[in-house]
Amino acid sequence: MLIRIPPPHPIRSSEITPERVHDDRRRLVAQLGLSAVALVTGCGRSDDAQAERPQASTEIAATDSASTVAPAAGSEGRAALNVAKRSELAGGETLTPFMDVSTYNNYYEFGTSKDQPARNAHTLKTRPWMVTVDGECESPGQLGIEDLVNASTLEERVYRFRCVEAWSMVVPWVGIALSDVLARFKPTSKAKYVAFETFYDRQQMPLGRWAGFELPYVEGLRIDEAMHPLTLLTVGMYGRVLPNQNGAPLRLVVPWKYGYKSIKSIVRVRFVEKEPPTTWNILQPEEYGFYSNVNPAVSHPRWSQSGERRLGELFKRKTLLYNGYTEVASLYTGMDPVKFH
Ligand code: MTE
Repeated sequence: MLIRIPPPHPIRSSEITPERVHDDRRRLVAQLGLSAVALVTGCGRSDDAQAERPQASTEIAATDSASTVAPAAGSEGRAALNVAKRSELAGGETLTPFMDVSTYNNYYEFGTSKDQPARNAHTLKTRPWMVTVDGECESPGQLGIEDLVNASTLEERVYRFRCVEAWSMVVPWVGIALSDVLARFKPTSKAKYVAFETFYDRQQMPLGRWAGFELPYVEGLRIDEAMHPLTLLTVGMYGRVLPNQNGAPLRLVVPWKYGYKSIKSIVRVRFVEKEPPTTWNILQPEEYGFYSNVNPAVSHPRWSQSGERRLGELFKRKTLLYNGYTEVASLYTGMDPVKFH
């Protein structure tokens, strides 16, 4: 099954991709026996249809799983972070190799196939970077990325991360509890939800025109989800600042929800009274709900969510309710998971 999100102005890949890269790609496609269109992927496709999924990078896996804060292969040039505390929250599972996590990405502003963000996201300028926090709060203001990166409270959290496409990974993210940051702005009782917005600039993100949805990318959480201690405002991974393709300089990681809730390169946070619009829900409301909690019993209309494949592994494993983070269950007491999917 191949489901493709059509770009608003369909064009040939040779027109948007530098010639050399395009030629390399064509060679790869020919070698793998794939059709060119099969390289177009995204949150609209299950892992079963993703022929370009990377295979095990065993060499790197051995290095990475030995130490999480040591520089990972390919991390040269990105500053090391001062991590004060480490929490293992993935049941001791082996980390996914840094190389896989940083070359198999969904970041539509830099291209709709998994390999494009790693090649294209270098055009994003991540310094200086300010985040505006406003809406229903007593102390609206701005937050500089340096305030967060230099925070003495930076934590490393090893989380499972599950994409709606049915692939998953285990990543040592570095960041700060979102609740600690939000509290500084003193949300009022009217703040029932938190809305997030990604940076968007046509010059720095020229492929954004063909993302297939309106930009900037927007996401949202209910206030109690945003304040839950597991929700991480993330500035790094594998002990170093985030690569651009993984959402530098600042992204969310919400480990019990499908990956698309983990919005990248955030520039605006707003406390709001009503449920805010979210990118994938605007695009396909029947397929992508506001809540998007990982739930093996609630199928995507086009594929089952009962299993998932860890990047680099051959066989599928069972998907866990709330991605295994069942401590969040009380947030959803009395809510029908199908209706509020
Ligand atoms: N944020 C922005 N701004 N743009 C995107 O395209 N993709 C989402 C999410 N955040 C996306 C985004 C999706 S679909 C997933 S699965 C995760 O980022 C992927 O994160 P990763 O590339 O670090 O694995």
